This record gives sequence, structure tokens and C-alpha cells, in this order.
Amino acid sequence: MIRELSNPSVCMKNPGKVQDILLSMQKAGSNTLQVISDFDMTLTRFAFNGKRCPTCHNILDNSRLIDDECKLKLKDLLNTYYPIEIDPTRSAEEKLPLMVEWWTQAHELLIQQKIKKDALVLAVQESEAKLREGYQFFFNHLHEHSIPLLIFSAGIGDVLEEVIRHAGVFHSNVNVFSNYMKFDELGVLQEFKGELIHIYNKREGALLNTGHFRELRARPNVLLLGDSLGDLTMADGVQAMENILKIGFLNDKVEDRRQTYMDSYDIVLIQDETLEVPNAIVRFLTGNK
Ligand code: TMP
Ligand code: MG
Repeated sequence: MIRELSNPSVCMKNPGKVQDILLSMQKAGSNTLQVISDFDMTLTRFAFNGKRCPTCHNILDNSRLIDDECKLKLKDLLNTYYPIEIDPTRSAEEKLPLMVEWWTQAHELLIQQKIKKDALVLAVQESEAKLREGYQFFFNHLHEHSIPLLIFSAGIGDVLEEVIRHAGVFHSNVNVFSNYMKFDELGVLQEFKGELIHIYNKREGALLNTGHFRELRARPNVLLLGDSLGDLTMADGVQAMENILKIGFLNDKVEDRRQTYMDSYDIVLIQDETLEVPNAIVRFLTGNK
């Protein structure tokens, strides 16, 4: 049905279920579809030429906006908490308070650096952030078919927006739920706005945004893209959902996490740095060959 589902990176626990969901969503038509995607390590690459690519936070951590002492502290936090984030032996309940600790400490350090709003553009331009191969088709095709794309990220909204603006794909069908910076009248970072979004409270974040999902109530079919198990709850605010197809990128600790990912996501993409499979699915759902 979709040639790319035979790619070597694709794992499915239940291919029959995937086929049924795809046929049902295709029959309902692309005007009933919405796409909800995580950002870091889902729309962006995990690695390039054997080197890790930065998350939204890392774009700032590695930039000239942060002094060396702060860089070391942020690196210490990453080295402490990232292994916890991807540890398959700990439950989400166990990880949750530790993730809050990570985000809170990282944001406090960023605030101390008095980051200027107008310096973010250069930080993104000078960074090594990379959207996954095939991103132009993904963003442009969804836009051309007026399919809403919600980017739901525990990263930093201001940085994320700049990455997709810089890539020329911040189209009018894109909405972003993320952690946004609040600047004072001189354009200096003061605090982060609203409720903190970390990787294990996306459900709560979704439920706070009922207005967005109410507007999209005529689109009960959802394509969800994520890379963490916390991303599975991003669609919890969708009203009267009919079908959901969950695609998960498994980037790191593959052997330890393969089974859990296969039990949780309908399609698992193993160390696949491209959007080839999501693009093929979007093409199928919009009736394009
Ligand atoms: P996402 O929801 O867009 O994937 O963003 C969350 C990612 O951000 C998650 O994988 C951890 C990462 N992160 C950092 O790289 N550095 C940090 O300081 C923090 C708080 C998170
Ligand atoms: Mg992610």
C-alpha cells in the first residue's frame, strides 16, 4: 500500500492495524486530518555525520549568548538528566519530578544570562540544528492541503520558531505549544511564560489548550509524530477522536527500548534521520501518489 513501510528502518508490531487505520483515515479525507508533532529529535535530526545535533535548549547552550561557566553547568545538567530521560528501567512516574528539576534548573540558568531577544536569530543561524531530510515536503505539502500542524514541544518556542522560520517553512497552518520566553521592555529575558512544558506533562499541556482543539473538532483523524514516550499524550486534547496513527522515532538506546516503543507506537522508525515514512503517509492520506 505504501512502499516506504518496507524500509529497513520501519518496525511495526501490528501491520494489519496500521493498514486499517490508514485506510480509514484515507477514506475520511484529508479535510478531517490534523498532524501533531514533537519538535526536538522528531522534526529535527538526532545526529549528522556521527555527531549529535542540538535540541532547542542546546542551541542556546552552545551559543555565544551563554558564558563558559554557565555552559559547564548546563552540560552537567544534560549529563545528569538525559540518561534518566532515556532510561528504560525507570517509570514515567519516577522520571517526572527529575525532569521538572532539569527544566527548572536549566531555565533559571538561562534567565541569569540575560539573553537578548534579538540575539536569538543569530544563535539559530550559527547553530548546527538540522530539520530531518524531507522537511520541505512535509511542511509544504501540509500547508498546500490546509492540514493543521501542531508542533508540541518541551523545548523553547522562540528558538523553535526561529529554526522553522530560518528554514522557510513557518507557514500559516503551523501552531506551536511550547515554553515561550518573556522579555522586559529592553528585550532581555526575564522569565518563561505560563505553565512549564516538560517531556512528561504534554497531556496537561494539551488539556489546557481546549480552544485550539475545539477549533479543529471537524478533524478527528490524527497523525502523531514523537520520539519520547511522553509524546504519546500530545493528542489527549483532541475532541471526538476517530483514528490516530502514532509514529515514533527511536534514536538512541535502540535495543533496550525497541519493545516498549513497538508496544506504544504503531510505527517505529529506528535510527532513521529522514521524514521519508511520514511523508509517504501524508502523500497517501492526501491522495497523491
Ligand atoms: P521536545 O519536546 O521538543 O522533544 O523537547 C524536549 C527535549 O529537550 C528533550 O529531549 C530534552 C531536551 N533538553 C535539552 O536538551 N536541554 C535542556 O536543558 C532541557 C531542559 C531539555
Ligand atoms: Mg523530542
